[in-house]
Amino acid sequence: MDIEYYDRFSKVYDILSPKCYYHSARAFAVKQLSLQDGQTILNLPCGTGQNFEYFQEYLHGSGQIIGIDLSTGMLQKAKKKVAKNGWENISLYQADARKIDQSWLMASNHGQTDLNAILCDLGLSGFPQWRQIIDNMLELLKPGGTFVIMDWYIPQPTLRASVVKWIGKGEVDRPLYQYLATSVADFEVNTSFNRGGVFVATGIK
Ligand SMILES: C[S@@+](CC[C@H](N)C(=O)[O-])C[C@H]1O[C@@H](n2cnc3c(N)ncnc32)[C@H](O)[C@@H]1O
Repeated sequence: MDIEYYDRFSKVYDILSPKCYYHSARAFAVKQLSLQDGQTILNLPCGTGQNFEYFQEYLHGSGQIIGIDLSTGMLQKAKKKVAKNGWENISLYQADARKIDQSWLMASNHGQTDLNAILCDLGLSGFPQWRQIIDNMLELLKPGGTFVIMDWYIPQPTLRASVVKWIGKGEVDRPLYQYLATSVADFEVNTSFNRGGVFVATGIK
């Protein structure tokens, strides 16, 4: 996986992928998290921090938002957003998605490992070992916590699938939500976003 690609991409990410493009999907995904004041949400990968303003609508600056990404460039953009908005409840960590488990969180997040919710958006389609990462995320979540995936799913090899794959460096035909469905309670999926190309799937641990 070419993380340097994302470092370069970070410079234009918010221009090429403006708020309006994923707004409906993000707003729905974050609503599905059922966040309440004082709770903790982990966002993998957090990219340039486009979700943070959506989380704050529910957390109002309370609790903790843990943003994780491997790209230095993406994290720099996220840090700028945090500073510009004066958000004090956000912790940003540079880490490989494959390494994130209970012991990583314990060591990295000052022993605070209670997660109410996890959002994996536009990441699992690009991560190798995505099944293992979903399993690890579910292990991290508190019992009763909410896991949401927002990502592309275009099972047929179309021109649109090739373009999304080329830009995002993701595999758009992975059965991400089908896999999640086998491991959670109260599974729900909404496949109506971005003309049917983007889904939001929700499950309770
Ligand atoms: C398409 S962006 C999505 C970012 C964000 N979730 C959003 O919706 O705007 C994919 C992100 O995955 C990150 N990434 C790629 N491989 C990773 C890995 N192995 N571990 C953690 N982050 C990774 C990239 O740096 C990039 O920020």
